[in-house]
Amino acid sequence: MKIVHSLESLRESLEGAMRVALVPTMGNLHAGHLRLVEQALEHGDLVVVSIFVNPLQFGPNEDYERYPRTLEADCDKLAQVGAHIVFAPPVDVIYPVPQQVHVEPPPLAAELCGAFRPGHFSGVATVVAKLFNLVQPQVALFGKKDYQQLAVIRALVQQLNFPIDIVGVETQRLPDGLALSSRNGYLTEPQRAEAPRLYATLLDIRHQVEAGRRDFAVLAEEAIGLLQQHGWRVDYVSVRCRSDLSPAADGQALVALAAAWLGETRLIDNLEIGSR
Ligand code: PAJ
Repeated sequence: MKIVHSLESLRESLEGAMRVALVPTMGNLHAGHLRLVEQALEHGDLVVVSIFVNPLQFGPNEDYERYPRTLEADCDKLAQVGAHIVFAPPVDVIYPVPQQVHVEPPPLAAELCGAFRPGHFSGVATVVAKLFNLVQPQVALFGKKDYQQLAVIRALVQQLNFPIDIVGVETQRLPDGLALSSRNGYLTEPQRAEAPRLYATLLDIRHQVEAGRRDFAVLAEEAIGLLQQHGWRVDYVSVRCRSDLSPAADGQALVALAAAWLGETRLIDNLEIGSR
């Protein structure tokens, strides 16, 4: 496995590759990220993992500074699963001049997480467009854990004609249901014990929809109330159509999405609900 930091060495290491698969990450890798890499190995013959904590997607009061940076441990894990290239550029390689050109994501980016993190998805779309141009992969893999991000990336690729296949990978969870996330490491012990309730709440919404409930807004309100009772500060719980994240409609394939805080830590999760 090669670890490269500059554009020159990235280009060199890509020479002659047939089908490049890209897994963009911000590092502090866990089994969820590694699952993406394993799937990437099935989709391409050269797997590039980028590790870059992208300042553009963090709000002024968010955790950019304290976001965990663990390059050495990350590279050990990536070597073990068989990644070929780690691209870990410093900030000035990605942003050599002040970034004045931004990708404007679709209106969907202003909803759900976007309503609470203004500019976040524009920052994501901009850095992902850069990574696509630098690495020029044939396929790129993203986790369903960040369901709205995946929807924004699909729109980016479709509407800006990136010749790249996008693969969505199932969310990896701990045995108690908590979705793996770099931010789980911020949780105190009691918060960690409480955290699986987010997934449990989504499971409950799924059961209720599968049992015939169609009052999606009321269901979401009930879920918010329950989380609040257990000390969560809820940004949103919402049932949406899977295809474009528009409001849930009967007969569509649905997904329940949630974002909520335990103390200083914001967790997100989602769960697909059967097609009826
Ligand atoms: P990051 O949070 O590091 O996540 C990198 C990729 O891993 C994303 O596609 C994310 O959805 C996926 N992922 C995270 N946790 C997962 C889990 N438990 N199961 C499955 N996949 C999981 O998302 C980002 O970085 C950034 O926004 C990025 C796309 C790299 C742009 O900066």
